[in-house]
Amino acid sequence: MTNEHASLRVDRARLLDRIFSLAEVGAIEGGGVCRLALTDEDKAGRDLVVAWMRDLSLDVQIDAIGNVIAVREGRDPALAPVMTGSHIDTVRTGGKYDGNYGVLAGLEVLETLAAANITTERSIAVAFFTDEEGARFHPDMMGSLVYAGGMSVEEALDLPGIDGTRLGDELNRIGYAGPSPCPGIVPHAFVELHVEQGPVLEAEGITIGVVERVQGISWQEVIVTGQSNHAGTTPMRLRHDAGYAAALLAVRVREIVGSAGGDQVGTVGSIQLHPDLVNVVAARAVLTMDLRNTDNDALSRVERDVATAMQEIAEAEGVTITSRSTARFEPVEFDPRIINLVEVVAHDQGNTLRRMPSGAGHDAQMIARTCPAAMIFVPSVKGLSHNVAEFTEAADLEAGANVLLHVLFTLANESSP
Ligand code: GLV
Ligand code: MN
Ligand code: MN
Repeated sequence: MTNEHASLRVDRARLLDRIFSLAEVGAIEGGGVCRLALTDEDKAGRDLVVAWMRDLSLDVQIDAIGNVIAVREGRDPALAPVMTGSHIDTVRTGGKYDGNYGVLAGLEVLETLAAANITTERSIAVAFFTDEEGARFHPDMMGSLVYAGGMSVEEALDLPGIDGTRLGDELNRIGYAGPSPCPGIVPHAFVELHVEQGPVLEAEGITIGVVERVQGISWQEVIVTGQSNHAGTTPMRLRHDAGYAAALLAVRVREIVGSAGGDQVGTVGSIQLHPDLVNVVAARAVLTMDLRNTDNDALSRVERDVATAMQEIAEAEGVTITSRSTARFEPVEFDPRIINLVEVVAHDQGNTLRRMPSGAGHDAQMIARTCPAAMIFVPSVKGLSHNVAEFTEAADLEAGANVLLHVLFTLANESSP
């Protein structure tokens, strides 16, 4: 940053106003938000953000998988743009900040530059990617994965939803299948600002997390097939209870993850029983499994142990258990140069800071396949996220956006290709 602009800062009130206005779309009890990808609520959120992008006179591009990219032109349009962004879809019981903060802080950066009449050498683009949460259509980070060329548009359009829908049909239904090519333009660099979604920064009283890596992630959908029967007449020893087998498996996952130690985490977040009635032994259970680790080999070992547990439970209970992988991403290391830049800018602005890994998945980990990338974290109160009570202090939101402003400004004035 040249000295001339070193004191430039974002407008906190304008940033908060957009965050709270977007959170009204799909608002749910407790202060949270439900905008599952490609639902009517997601469309309404998209429409609002696109309207803001157009108000800022940005060039709004929508690609074949519904990623939205708003570009503020630089002095030399031949140079690759610098990109920031995140997502505006949420889980069913999401908060106001996850993803939304990064997108709206990106817009705030562009508005700050425009208000100060600053033109950068490179264009700056603010993106929101489709279906980052993966809560409705697996895998997560789907839009950025396709943007980066890691999955074909055709394959993505054909993904099934948890509600029996097809991604491509829902994308067309809400009118967000656009003409821009996907995979998209390779940026000069990508920087994503996000709430931490964990307890570390708050516990240590630190404002800025400089994110070095994202842990690996493995999702599976598991189907247990037993035999439905009468709950009153079927002796316990003659049952093939899919519900019981699913519960056993959930407990085994917890035990395997616990004994793996290290950074290993594991979650059985959904169990659906069929026919799901009080007096019927369940014939079928469908459960999901989310396993994560910063160490890919350790993650693979846990996957194997879970597979063994499935076999053992199937034999013991006389049920069949099948599983299919719905997401598998290795840990991602961010770019040392961009990490360093984030650290220097955060330090120069007087923030407390630390380097750290990300436990959550993020669009930046997909875009990192194509260009140098890194992330900036700000604290999450009580470490809560994927929870309606998710909260970050206004001063921290502002501090993170100011780091983003100057990191993007610096990158956007780099002349080398
Ligand atoms: C996506 O946000 C995830 O980490 O689950
Ligand atoms: Mn997120
Ligand atoms: Mn999330």
